[in-house]
Amino acid sequence: MKKIIVKLNDRSYPIYIGKNILSNKSLLGNIKSEKFAVVTNKKIKSLHLSKINNASIKNNQIILNDGEKYKNQESIDKIYNYLLKNKYSRDSCIIAFGGGVIGDITGYASATYQRGINFVQIPTTLLSMVDSSVGGKTGINHSLGKNMIGAFHQPIAVIIDTEILKTLSKRQFSAGMAEVIKYGIIEDKKFFNWIRKNTEKIKMQDPESIIKIVKKSCEIKAKIVSLDEREKNIRALLNLGHTFGHAIENYLGYGKWLHGEAIACGFLIAASVAIQNKTMSISEYDQIKDLIEAFNLPTKLPKNINVEKLFKIMLLDKKVKNNEMTYVLPKNIGKAYITNKIKKNIVIKALKDHVK
Ligand SMILES: NC(=O)c1ccc[n+]([C@@H]2O[C@H](COP(=O)([O-])OP(=O)(O)OC[C@H]3O[C@@H](n4cnc5c(N)ncnc54)[C@H](O)[C@@H]3O)[C@@H](O)[C@H]2O)c1
Ligand SMILES: [Zn+2]
Repeated sequence: MKKIIVKLNDRSYPIYIGKNILSNKSLLGNIKSEKFAVVTNKKIKSLHLSKINNASIKNNQIILNDGEKYKNQESIDKIYNYLLKNKYSRDSCIIAFGGGVIGDITGYASATYQRGINFVQIPTTLLSMVDSSVGGKTGINHSLGKNMIGAFHQPIAVIIDTEILKTLSKRQFSAGMAEVIKYGIIEDKKFFNWIRKNTEKIKMQDPESIIKIVKKSCEIKAKIVSLDEREKNIRALLNLGHTFGHAIENYLGYGKWLHGEAIACGFLIAASVAIQNKTMSISEYDQIKDLIEAFNLPTKLPKNINVEKLFKIMLLDKKVKNNEMTYVLPKNIGKAYITNKIKKNIVIKALKDHVK
């Protein structure tokens, strides 16, 4: 089993990574809590809940509906109701057992129930293992915007059992790979090249390769979060491709493209802006494109997409300040930068060049 620490002074916490580690009684057993409750959905419950070796969890389950559309206040109320009816105190702990949707909802409920209780993340999708379970961003959607309500609230532990990925669909797995590739582009060229060399092994879910990508991703995220928990500066690098990606998700209608698919195409649009800005070479762009393609992620936007309309949606992004767009761009593979000096026509060209 591997262990990484997210260093945040008295709120530091461990990330445990390994195969079949959910059967290890001591991981949850060592956590001090008056009472536990697990939050999950029906699908994950039937596939994997029995793997968690903890008696208290057998009798204390909050089962939410499956899907992004349930990442809302109603699900939060369902959790509050359960905790209140069953007299959960401030010394209890809730466990998020699921993908990013369950993790974000459970984290937000724990941030707000009785002004904040402990929570543990046990992520079950690749995306949640390498990204959403680490870093303490929690929240729900509002009818007027995605992820618009939330809180920073760090978990007290993250437990990643890579065996659980076996039941994840290929499409969801690839979407998670987009975030993994992102870490390579923004921070670690060696890791990027390792992914290129080991694509087939990763796709076959070779256990050692999976542990390697999850560990490396968590190390990079943990380091960045430790340096900038509240996204005042460098944490924003984790948003590479996301301004474009969020706009694509919104334009096409949420769910049409998965988040990972939209940001993967977003990396290429960002790289293309960087080429025009003379900070990136075409050969590096091609390396990113080849890797995205190797994981069956999209490299082009659907035809007939209206680029001006897409750009307008980008301006609605919460990262826009004083009407100035902030972009995260790759400098080269392994290094990224943040700038608000990019002219609209450059971005429009990059978008146009990526329409099928
Ligand atoms: N908090 C953060 O920092 C952060 C970062 C990135 C994304 N997010 C959020 O994460 C959410 C997306 O997360 P996601 O991609 O994990 O989606 P998800 O949680 O909706 O999971 C995708 C689907 O896979 C199913 N599933 C989960 N684990 C499975 C398994 N092991 N086997 C089979 N099926 C399984 C789920 O039930 C669901 O149907 C979005 O709401 C996004 O906003 C948050
Ligand atoms: Zn993302």
